[in-house]
Amino acid sequence: MPPTRCALVGLPGSGKSTVGRQLARRLQLPLVDLDQRLEEVLGTSIRQYFEECGEDAFRDREQALLAELAAEPGPMVLSTGGGAVLRQANRSALRQGFGQVFYLRATPEDLWRRLRHDQTRPLLQVDNPLARLRELHRVRDPLYREAANYVIETGRPTVHTLVNMVAMQLEMAGAVPART
Ligand code: S3P
Repeated sequence: MPPTRCALVGLPGSGKSTVGRQLARRLQLPLVDLDQRLEEVLGTSIRQYFEECGEDAFRDREQALLAELAAEPGPMVLSTGGGAVLRQANRSALRQGFGQVFYLRATPEDLWRRLRHDQTRPLLQVDNPLARLRELHRVRDPLYREAANYVIETGRPTVHTLVNMVAMQLEMAGAVPART
C-alpha cells in the first residue's frame, strides 16, 4: 500500500487544524500544518508578515512551501491555510501530491460564530467580518470543490465525528487499512 497522504482545505475556522491533528493522531501519521510551518520558515506570525510584506508575498511563500511538501514522499496529513486553493498551481499540487483532499465545508455564519473574537487572521480584521466571510465563501467554495475529492459538511458533527468521517473515506478509498 502506498503511503497515506491526505490534505484538508476550507475556510478559516472550518476545523482544518483541529481535525488534522486528531486525524494524524488516530492514523498515526505525521502532521504538517502549513500555516504553522510557514510561520517557522518566515520567522514571524502570518499576521505580521501580511502587514510588513503584503498578501502577494505571503501567497508566493505559501505556494513555494506547498510545492515542496507535495513533492516530499512519505505519509502525511496536511492542514492548509484557507487561501491555499486560490492559485491554480496550488490546487494541482494538492490533487497530485496528496491524492485524498477533503474540503471541510461550513457556512459563513457558523464560521463567524467560531471566529468572532479571533485576532490572528489578517483577512478578518475588518469592520464587518461576517460580510468578509460571506464574500470569501462565495469566491472560494468552487475552488475548494475543485481542489478536493470529498466535501465534508462540518455544521453539526463534533470534531470526533468529523475525524471518523474522514478516516472512513480514507478506508473506503483503500488509502489506509480498514479497522477490524
Ligand atoms: C488565510 C487563512 C489563514 C492563513 C492566512 C490567509 C486565508 O489560515 O493562511 O491568514 O486567505 O483564508 P486559516 O485558514 O488556518 O485561518
